[in-house]
Amino acid sequence: MFKRYLITSALPYANGPVHIGHLAGVYVPADIYVRYLRLRKRDVLFIGGSDEHGVPITIKARQENVTPQDVVDKYHNIIKKSFEEFGISFDVYSRTTSKVHYETASGFFRKLYDNNQFIEKTTEQFYDEEVKQFLADRYITGTCPVCSNENAYGDQCEKCGSSLNATDLVNPRSTLSGSVPVLRETKHWFLPLDQYEGFLRKWILEDNTDWKANVYGQCKSWLDQGLQPRAVSRDLDWGIPVPVDGATGKVLYVWFDAPIGYISATKELTPDWEKYWKDKESKLVHFIGKDNIVFHCIIFPAMLKAEGTYILPDNVPANEFLNLEGDKISTSRNWAVWLHEYLEDFKGKEDVLRYVLCANMPETKDNDFTWKDFQTRNNSELVAIFGNFVNRALVLTQKYFGGKVPSSAAATAQDLEVLKEIDSIKKNIEDSLENFRFREALKEAMNLARLGNKYLADTEPWKIFKDQPEKVAAILNISLQISANLAILMEPFLPFTSAKLKAMLNLPEINWDNTGSNPLLSEGHQMNEPALLFEKIEDTTIEAQLNKLAEQKKLNEAKNAKAEPQKSNVSYDDFSKMDIRIGTILEAVKVPKTAKLMQLKVDTGIDTRTIVSGIAEFFTPEDLIGKQVTVLVNLEPRAIKGIQSQGMLLLAEDKLGKLILAGPQQSTDNGSVVR
Ligand code: 2FM
Ligand code: ZN
Repeated sequence: MFKRYLITSALPYANGPVHIGHLAGVYVPADIYVRYLRLRKRDVLFIGGSDEHGVPITIKARQENVTPQDVVDKYHNIIKKSFEEFGISFDVYSRTTSKVHYETASGFFRKLYDNNQFIEKTTEQFYDEEVKQFLADRYITGTCPVCSNENAYGDQCEKCGSSLNATDLVNPRSTLSGSVPVLRETKHWFLPLDQYEGFLRKWILEDNTDWKANVYGQCKSWLDQGLQPRAVSRDLDWGIPVPVDGATGKVLYVWFDAPIGYISATKELTPDWEKYWKDKESKLVHFIGKDNIVFHCIIFPAMLKAEGTYILPDNVPANEFLNLEGDKISTSRNWAVWLHEYLEDFKGKEDVLRYVLCANMPETKDNDFTWKDFQTRNNSELVAIFGNFVNRALVLTQKYFGGKVPSSAAATAQDLEVLKEIDSIKKNIEDSLENFRFREALKEAMNLARLGNKYLADTEPWKIFKDQPEKVAAILNISLQISANLAILMEPFLPFTSAKLKAMLNLPEINWDNTGSNPLLSEGHQMNEPALLFEKIEDTTIEAQLNKLAEQKKLNEAKNAKAEPQKSNVSYDDFSKMDIRIGTILEAVKVPKTAKLMQLKVDTGIDTRTIVSGIAEFFTPEDLIGKQVTVLVNLEPRAIKGIQSQGMLLLAEDKLGKLILAGPQQSTDNGSVVR
């Protein structure tokens, strides 16, 4: 057994909030594991923080016309707060713009540089001549040479997942100016990964026999393709400056500095940090998503090996991806359930999401989150099994014994058998958790609630109290022992529920190691008033979430929709029959008892006339009065809702069906002819 544990979770990019995909992939499993280790009284540190460098952050800053520091300040705070509220129990949540991180990352680079561990190479990189800047990674897009996706990035194609070099792209374009970039020479520092191939092969493929199949498989495939030297610097103005002479305008590659962030955060937490990072008796575990495997299993270990004084990860239990309602979660398409929004919408239901994400964790393959399943798991599992059992045990004890734990003296061998089962369930939970099988562990923990629920349903103590009060006492005693075990064994998964249950049971401080069939609550122990642990989630709540997603889907479809196809040709003669003029709206009133109609008085330059137009959903009278618009003045007059309309306003309709006024770019005379 290891003396201590150092548990890290991927540092999320501070260019957006975190969503359920991040949670199910990384933070929920990491938190469960850490809480479990703490309950077992192991010496453990849980490290987190925001990844605040890299091109996506600079792109976001440009889009929002703010500085990169503004972007990371905003999202770091949102992320940190939402993790806290969700019960992700970091010992430290740091950030890679901190002073200690700059020093640590620079020092790390410098040591490798001084020990000649890098290759300096001048290569050709894309350069944008308009904005006079080298184009790193995501500043360049083009067609993926593997799958022909036209919007692949300079470092990766998100459609087929291929890892790319910018120079692999077909038809490259600068995302800064849209221009075609040129190749220019620039010097960078490369980590010669090829020199670490032998070490990595042995370490991953031979020594680490207990790695997950998905992690092992990805590493093997990288190794089998052969490793190439990898640039660890970039031409950018956002990041940690390369700490050597002659490196002006160059910063550390974000994937060089980010994993060092785990070390910096540990330093920030404790002066004892070296014990955790440099002693072979420490167990280092990285919780990450599958897109981070190569960085944590190949590149970072090669960096650590090159540095020479650090331990290597003992395990990297990477998860696959979580989808949402059958579609890939995407920040840019806003296809996600965002944690900070969930916490707003579902106050006090943090554990419901933790439960559902653990039950559906994408441990071996991609998985799907659906709101229907969320509701079913809450109503049919948390409410109907766990909540129902605990509630019945506590309410009956309150009713028959004034909330005091009754005597188990009348327990039969059969009753005691039930108690015995706790031991094997506990053992199964431990085995599963030690081996990163979180879904299985949760299922086992729920089996304990199932056991209790079935026990009460079979024995029906509410029917026999009158005739056999001693028997009821024994049944409830056993039910309460099960409840107390649930309060502890469920804590890694459902910490908020566990705290509530402990308070209701008035449970003294109990270790994980004391749980099992030995009684946790002694006879006569006074408990507190029971309350419901979970409540039903109604259809309307789920519908509201589904509607929100449906709106987003519509928006995304509209964004991708092509312009309407062109209509068939008309002759010039036909066109010239239409008399189109510029006019000014003088008056506007909504037509009573209609949703869409607006009655307008328009100065057409020819006359002042009434036009009825179906635009009331998009404009208020104030939006319209005084505006110059385009009017088809010789459209056959017709009566609309009893009002004679003399002409038609011409408007543009966007992809979402929204109407936009189509007037002249500069003010002009009313009556000007449009032709
Ligand atoms: O994929 C990501 O979101 C990265 N920001 C993870 C970094 S993990 C570590 F290396 F910092
Ligand atoms: Zn591709």
